[in-house]
Amino acid sequence: MSYTKQQLQKETLRLFEKLKNVNWSQEDCSLIAHMTLEINELKKEQNAIILAHSYQTPDIMYGVADFIGDSYGLSKIAAEHDAEKIVFCSVHFMGETAKILSPKKKVLVPDVAGCSLAESITAEDVRELKRKYPNVPIVTYINTSAEVKAESDVCCTSSNALKIIESFDEDKIIFIPDRLMGENLQKRTEKKLIFWHGTCIVHEKFDKKAIEDIRTKYVGVKILAHYECTSSVTDSVDLVGSTADMLNYVKKNPADNYMLITECGITDRVKTEFPDKNIVGTCQLCPFMKQINLGQILMALKNPNKKQIINIPNDILQRAKKSLDKMMELSK
Ligand code: 13P
Ligand code: SF4
Repeated sequence: MSYTKQQLQKETLRLFEKLKNVNWSQEDCSLIAHMTLEINELKKEQNAIILAHSYQTPDIMYGVADFIGDSYGLSKIAAEHDAEKIVFCSVHFMGETAKILSPKKKVLVPDVAGCSLAESITAEDVRELKRKYPNVPIVTYINTSAEVKAESDVCCTSSNALKIIESFDEDKIIFIPDRLMGENLQKRTEKKLIFWHGTCIVHEKFDKKAIEDIRTKYVGVKILAHYECTSSVTDSVDLVGSTADMLNYVKKNPADNYMLITECGITDRVKTEFPDKNIVGTCQLCPFMKQINLGQILMALKNPNKKQIINIPNDILQRAKKSLDKMMELSK
């Protein structure tokens, strides 16, 4: 598609208004303006929405996304929105989750991006756990494949995991696959949790020393960490939660300085949406989340290849749906 000079200039300024907060120049914005214009036009024509996880790059979040959020918030939108098509900008399991929750919609992912947690466990591993611990309920973190969800009793995300665990009468629960998140949850529940050995390669990198240094340097700093971090990190922070919990905390708290112990996308969101707040310390990049780009989104809308279209065998989809529907029900 071709655009007039005025259309491109207008789009460049719209992008710059947001992206200047994360150090994009007007020239940088002018280089992507034709793509964001085309993506936004195709979305309307096709009755499609773009969902972007908060770890996506700012050009995606502020240039083309209709909704930006955490895995729970975006799953809810996928289940409830009346669009015919969803383009899910995130790792693959989130696209799969959208398809499971809304099987009649066409769900596309710009790229097949993995996740160290999702890759740490297979459906056969879960069946083996069931044989080893009969009658122990299985609570499965959403960062898993459809096949693993299909073997589970209920799913959870970092924003509702504790509530879901507490909803069971049993005093023993299998929590898979994130061992570090499991250890954080174990400190907050009386129930005995049985873990798997998965970890997030992004969040496990943070260490306690960096937090201590920041606390000494910035008096009054608020330090927020994701549930996927080690408990040596989460023990010394002001909030442990999901990405949405962190953003909410920043929104409501009067402090000036924040350290965000999570992926850099959240830092980009705070800089863009709360430019008066100051971010200190370093964040980490998720190589999987950062695989997605505007070119692939355009291709998914114009002429998707087989890998971009989410298809799940019906039997797996129906069984995984039960675990996700139960999560939605228990999260109300
Ligand atoms: P949220 O549910 O907090 O968005 O986390 C998803 C994720 O992949 C964190 O690494
Ligand atoms: Fe997976 Fe960690 Fe990346 Fe989240 S940040 S998608 S858990 S690898």
